[in-house]
Amino acid sequence: MTHNLLKGKRGIIFGALNEESIAWKVAEKAAEEGATIALSNTAMALRMGTLDKLAEQINAPIIAADATSVEDLEKVFIEAQEKLGGKIDFVLHSVAMSPNVRKHRTYDDLDYNFLNKTLDISAISFHKMLQVAKKLDAINEWGSVVALTYVASQRTFFGYNDMADAKSMLESIARSFGYIYGREKHVRINTISQSPTATTAGKGIKDIENMMDFADKMSPLGNAVAEDCANYCVMMFSDFTRKVTMQNLFHDGGFSSMGMSLRAMNQYAKDLAPYEDENGKVIYG
Ligand SMILES: NC(=O)c1ccc[n+]([C@@H]2O[C@H](COP(=O)([O-])OP(=O)(O)OC[C@H]3O[C@@H](n4cnc5c(N)ncnc54)[C@H](O)[C@@H]3O)[C@@H](O)[C@H]2O)c1
Repeated sequence: MTHNLLKGKRGIIFGALNEESIAWKVAEKAAEEGATIALSNTAMALRMGTLDKLAEQINAPIIAADATSVEDLEKVFIEAQEKLGGKIDFVLHSVAMSPNVRKHRTYDDLDYNFLNKTLDISAISFHKMLQVAKKLDAINEWGSVVALTYVASQRTFFGYNDMADAKSMLESIARSFGYIYGREKHVRINTISQSPTATTAGKGIKDIENMMDFADKMSPLGNAVAEDCANYCVMMFSDFTRKVTMQNLFHDGGFSSMGMSLRAMNQYAKDLAPYEDENGKVIYG
C-alpha cells in the first residue's frame, strides 16, 4: 500500500549494488511513494552489480561516482538536479567498505593505509557529500539526509573491526554538520542504526550469521530487515519528520535497549548444558 509520502520530491541514493542492498530497497520504496530518484555508485560497482535493472525499474538516471572524490560528488549533485528537474529533497548515504575487514586484518594488526581508506569511504565521504551539497546549494529547505550506521559505533562487537571507528565518526558528522545545515538551511541530518542485515557488505563481517541470530534472539521485535529499513528511511525523507535532526535513530527491533532476553539466555544455557561424548564422558560446555 502506498501513501504518496514523497510525491513531488527528488532524491539521490548512494550505495545500491544489488537486490540485497539496503539502498536498493530504499530506492524502490521511495519511488513507490512518488519520488523521482538519481542513483549513484562507483564505476566498479556498476560493473559488478545489477544497478541497471533497478534504474530501469524505477526510471532513474545513474551517475557514477566514487564517494571519496569531491569532484565526482559535485558531478552527482549538479547532474542529478539537471536530470530530475530541480533541487534535491533527500539523500541516502548507504556507503561502506573496510579493506582491513576484507583482507582479514584484525583490530590489533591494522594496516593504516587501509584504515585511512575505511574512514574515507565509510565516514568522511558523508562529510564530503554534505559539504558539496551545501556549497552548491543543491538541497531544498527542509530537505532530509540520512546515513546508515550500526550499533558497533557505540558498543564493542566482535569482528566489526575498524568499521566501528568509521561508524562513530559518521554519527558525529551527522551531529556536527546537522547543526550548521539545520541552522542555515533547515536541512536535517540523521543516522539510522540498522539491525545486522544479510547484504554484500554485511556478509563481509566476521560470523555475521551468528551475529544476526544473536541480535534476532535479543530483540523483542526481532531483527529489522532491509524492507523495514526502507520504510523508516521513507518516513525520515517525508514531511512528517521535519523537526528530527542530529539524531542517531535505532532501527533494530529493540536490540540496543536490551541487556539479556529469555530467548538468548535459553540458547546460551542450552549450548552450555553438559553432554556425554561417545565414550560416556560428561563434557561441560
Ligand atoms: N548489512 C548490515 O548488517 C548493516 C547493518 C547496519 C548498517 N549497515 C550499513 O548500510 C550501508 C549499506 O550497506 P549494505 O549492507 O546495504 O551493503 P552493500 O554492500 O549492498 O552496500 C555498500 C555499498 O557501498 C558502496 N561503496 C563502497 N565503496 C564506495 C565508494 N568509494 N564510493 C561509493 N560507493 C561505495 C558499494 O558499492 C555498495 O553499493 C552501509 O553503510 C552499511 O555499513 C549495514
